[in-house]
Amino acid sequence: MSARIIDGKAIAAELRIKVAGEVKRLTTQHGVTPGLAVVLAGNNPASESYVGSKAKATKEAGINSFDHRLPDSVGQAELMALVKKLNADPAVHGILVQLPLPKQIDAQQVLDAIDPAKDVDGFHPVNAGRLASGLPALVPCTPLGCIMLAKAVHPSLAGMEAVVIGRSNIVGKPVTQLLLAENATVTVTHSKTRDLPAVCRRADLLVAAIGRPEMVRAGWIKPGATVIDVGINRVPGENGKSKLVGDVAFAECAEVAGAITPVPGGVGPMTIACLMVNTVRATCAISGLPAPAV
Ligand code: GUN
Repeated sequence: MSARIIDGKAIAAELRIKVAGEVKRLTTQHGVTPGLAVVLAGNNPASESYVGSKAKATKEAGINSFDHRLPDSVGQAELMALVKKLNADPAVHGILVQLPLPKQIDAQQVLDAIDPAKDVDGFHPVNAGRLASGLPALVPCTPLGCIMLAKAVHPSLAGMEAVVIGRSNIVGKPVTQLLLAENATVTVTHSKTRDLPAVCRRADLLVAAIGRPEMVRAGWIKPGATVIDVGINRVPGENGKSKLVGDVAFAECAEVAGAITPVPGGVGPMTIACLMVNTVRATCAISGLPAPAV
């Protein structure tokens, strides 16, 4: 194995310490304690696990955590009423509605109802549009984490040839906009892209956000490239247990890449740390305070 392993867990831990420092400063100097409300409807096990990790990280950072658990049978009106209440609550600076929502719910209508100033997921069309226009915005957490990991290897991404695999609203599109804002030359690929391996081999920086286990193979990687693996796929492992793998065949790609994120321990921990960052950023903007140091 030749690649440097990008330790997302360690980088996220450092970031969370910085966030905790900013939270302390806001509380002691300005009398404002950031507050994050998380809404979980139903009992999807993956969502329960995410929400549990979020609540723990929130408290560790000194952020007030407001958890709202709703039954799987919740109706649209009840969910919309909760979002409106949280929008109006001055103790709440960030609102996250955990996805996926139960099948009877129109998720887009719920996301559209969140005050863009409190939209710490960055999923509201106003924030997506502001990001695409190069205006200050709350930016989705996973893409923000990807950029931070890439910058841990390359402090400047300017002029780099970046290839993004995947065009989702949650990762592919926003990470593309962030890379453009960093002055990278960006190619966005998707299921209809012709000769995807050849396009990927052009990349100095490859961001894989496809949701297909180990699809990216060693032959797709330009020697020395930096590889950011956003995938979290549960696959059958040894002894009947399941294991987590990324969208990148890690062991073989690490033989070719210059730097690569592992799964788990790469992008995943950065997502929650960036949620804390967004909560602090939202708090400062809402309170009319200068942007924080994170
Ligand atoms: N479900 C899985 N990941 C996420 C996320 O980042 N935000 C929200 N709201 N739901 C999710």
